[in-house]
Amino acid sequence: MKTIITHSAEDTKKFAAKLLASLQGNNVLALYGDLGSGKTTFSQGIGKALGITRRMISPTFVVIRNYTLQVKSSTLQFANLYHIDLYRVQNPKEVLDLGILDLMKDPTNLVLIEWAEKMGEYVPNKRVDVRFEYMDEEKRKITINKLT
Ligand SMILES: Nc1ncnc2c1ncn2[C@@H]1O[C@H](COP(=O)(O)OP(=O)(O)OP(=O)(O)O)[C@@H](O)[C@H]1O
Ligand SMILES: [Mg+2]
Repeated sequence: MKTIITHSAEDTKKFAAKLLASLQGNNVLALYGDLGSGKTTFSQGIGKALGITRRMISPTFVVIRNYTLQVKSSTLQFANLYHIDLYRVQNPKEVLDLGILDLMKDPTNLVLIEWAEKMGEYVPNKRVDVRFEYMDEEKRKITINKLT
């Protein structure tokens, strides 16, 4: 487990890029934290590091956004980025209909899940948990826990 404090949104994006570089075989990032705590900001940092130039907006209303990665711009093994927001999910079973479990099984898919607690029992054992806590307007505490 590791904890860091970021002092701006930009700082959180830079941290996301660093975490991406240290994933070592993990392809599922479970993001937890209150509204406005920084989950989407972190996801934008990952996207930028993977060469996504299109603006990454919050997937709250569409649940899943898929970005195809350019092989040459990606230093990692990922072919796709899936940015998922489960805020509106009421029952963990909805995760089955959304096909999220299949997405996560493909190691060439990097899957970021905001509000991962909504997956309930369907959250995979092999994942990296990233928790965001609001400290003040510009400060966030981020706790990382790699599980296998
Ligand atoms: N250190 C920081 N890290 C991340 N975001 C920060 C930080 N300081 C300020 N912010 C601001 O806080 C807001 C975080 O919003 P963001 O959409 O990333 O949160 P979220 O966790 O995805 O919320 P939601 O649950 O609504 O999806 C942004 O407006 C961002 O600019
Ligand atoms: Mg968000």
